[in-house]
Amino acid sequence: MGGSAISGDLARNLLFGSCEVPLSVTRHNALPAYMGPEDLVILLSYSGNTAETLGCLKDALARQIPCVLVTSGGQFRALVDEHQIPVVPVEPGWMPRAALGELYFALLGLLSQLPGAGWIAPAAAVKQLLAERETYVPQVPQSENPAKQLAAKLFKKTPILFGVHPTTEAVAMRWKTQINENSKVTALHGIFPELTHNEIVNLAHAKHPHHVMVILRDPEDPALFQRQLGFARDIMRPSVDDVVELMAQGPDRLARQLSLVYLGDYVSVYLALLAGVDPTPVTAIFGLKDRMAAAELQEVR
Ligand code: PA5
Repeated sequence: MGGSAISGDLARNLLFGSCEVPLSVTRHNALPAYMGPEDLVILLSYSGNTAETLGCLKDALARQIPCVLVTSGGQFRALVDEHQIPVVPVEPGWMPRAALGELYFALLGLLSQLPGAGWIAPAAAVKQLLAERETYVPQVPQSENPAKQLAAKLFKKTPILFGVHPTTEAVAMRWKTQINENSKVTALHGIFPELTHNEIVNLAHAKHPHHVMVILRDPEDPALFQRQLGFARDIMRPSVDDVVELMAQGPDRLARQLSLVYLGDYVSVYLALLAGVDPTPVTAIFGLKDRMAAAELQEVR
């Protein structure tokens, strides 16, 4: 779920054109009916306490489907020890969404064993992000800082993050959820080409003076999208406040994917700071989890 599951989505996009076995992501508390002992479940939960992920773990054990757990600790431990489930430990002490690097690289390490996936080398991506950090950090003034500039454009607006299937789809979701959790504001997201069959209608139909469209692009976006984008933008543009197009930068797919993620993360934090909001706490998420846990305890009693 949330800041942990997004690594699964990013991996699905990254390996779309290469991995020779099906990859799917579930956010339910049980596994799909088609899964069996010949499959592999990779459970991603930074805290190791998330109810949906625990449900999948129990389901996998009941159906004898092999599992690997990527986590920083948590309450699954007893079950995991009892059933000798392999654990990939990640560094504790972060908010789950801030541990993306830990979770995603651990996941990619596992997935690189799959046929076709190949060894996914992180070096170019790390180098790319280190270079970008130079211009995104708080010390760099807004006039030279693209992350601060974009945050200023989105401040007091409703961003609509548009991604492209299968290149920047998960990146758009990451931007949306980072803006939800860090900036604590509403953000929408849509995916090309699907949105050209539905969402384009409402966006073109009426004025949305507070909406800013952010289109997240990659040099390897499908040719169909590249043809479609100009027309779709022309149809939607008159209804919204502004349109921003961002092209992923970097020498390989992983670097490009993470370059957009990284910019979005910074933008979401600067948006929070502009609003005078602390980006870290997610009181509503923890409040809901506490209530769910208390209700479950009550049921057991
Ligand atoms: O960012 C967050 O804090 C949430 O989206 C969590 O990632 C989500 O609630 C799932 O928790 P965990 O990542 O610990 O499994």
